[in-house]
Amino acid sequence: MTVIKGLEGIVAAASSISSIVDGVLTYRGYDIDDLAENASFEETAFLLWFGSLPTTAELEKLKRDLSDFAAIPEQVIAQMKLYLKDTNTMAALRSAISSLALYDEAADDMSRSANEIKAVKLQAQIPTIVAALARIRKGLEPVAPKPGASLAENFLYMLRGEQPDMVSVKALDTGLVLHADHELNASTFAARVTVATLSDIYSGVTSAIGALKGPLHGGANEAVMKMLEEIGSFDNVEPYIRAKLDRREKIMGFGHRVYKNGDPRAKHLMKMSRELGAIKGDTTLYDMSVKIEEMVTGQKGLKPNVDFYSASVYTQLSIDRELFTPIFAISRVSGWTAHILEQYEDNRIIRPRAEYTGLVEQKYVPVNER
Ligand code: ACO
Repeated sequence: MTVIKGLEGIVAAASSISSIVDGVLTYRGYDIDDLAENASFEETAFLLWFGSLPTTAELEKLKRDLSDFAAIPEQVIAQMKLYLKDTNTMAALRSAISSLALYDEAADDMSRSANEIKAVKLQAQIPTIVAALARIRKGLEPVAPKPGASLAENFLYMLRGEQPDMVSVKALDTGLVLHADHELNASTFAARVTVATLSDIYSGVTSAIGALKGPLHGGANEAVMKMLEEIGSFDNVEPYIRAKLDRREKIMGFGHRVYKNGDPRAKHLMKMSRELGAIKGDTTLYDMSVKIEEMVTGQKGLKPNVDFYSASVYTQLSIDRELFTPIFAISRVSGWTAHILEQYEDNRIIRPRAEYTGLVEQKYVPVNER
């Protein structure tokens, strides 16, 4: 047995949803650059679930379904009000999403049609949950979803309690397109492992949220913002990053298991960060980020990943740092559920082996003799 630490380079599933070949990311054969510039998040989610871009009628139906399903059970809101106010937002999201299954009579219906409906429902409900969590933590009442609004618009509306500006809606929508799927990343793999036991879709998404929470995966965007806050000013970038590199510490938002020549999503977020700064008349966060990139790429050869510039983008959308990873989950639930549907279609339990490195030939000793 040869152990491949971190399963690096191991091909563990066949999938027709997204691919990374020679540094190019595609969803169902569409280049991410094309989708980021032209597609809405709703079109992207449809593409991931059903394999082709929607017709006008299909898109209208999906938008109606997302709107109709956006409300969450009163019991889940009541539960969220019992969570500690300063609990980790991803832990709270994980619990709330898991609870949704308790109020869905079709939770264990394993038919394709029932699972497709649950995928759309989860997608519709996750922004409502994240916005409600954010408001409850601030002592505010959750805001009910706005019928007919796009997913990005509705999320910002429920979060802020007022109609968001269209610049913010567009920026968030593009961010959601960019984060929607990413081949066999850690959280998607976790989802597929869970449902490959023929467990339900809610269990798969709950597992995925747990995996996304970690700072080596989705949690990195929050860690990037924490670092920018610690740095505090443009002038402090150089000494701060130099000291971190000298101590051989990791710089969050850099490096990637698959992309060694740069993450194709990062340039879109970088552009958005610059544009949002220009609109606000304050490009400090963008300038600091560019300086960090120059130093880290210059000295370590590491390029920014999707999480690096998303931190300054979301902050410039007046979104609190603790919501960054939950927003990643709002987008990625489309990819997770697409992968879950695909896993069910051609399932085999995922059960690898481990090389045993522990003690051997031990004999049981009664407790009073140890
Ligand atoms: N800062 C400094 N050094 C780094 C960084 C970083 N961000 N990333 C990798 N390195 C170094 C490692 O220390 C290692 O150096 P060594 O060979 O001298 O020990 C070398 O580069 C290879 O890195 P690995 O950790 O082996 O790369 P791996 O493929 O296992 O991990 C990962 C990839 C987890 C993304 C890593 O680059 C990392 O921790 N980055 C920071 C966290 C982050 O931004 N995560 C988000 C990833 S994107 C996403 O999930 C959405």
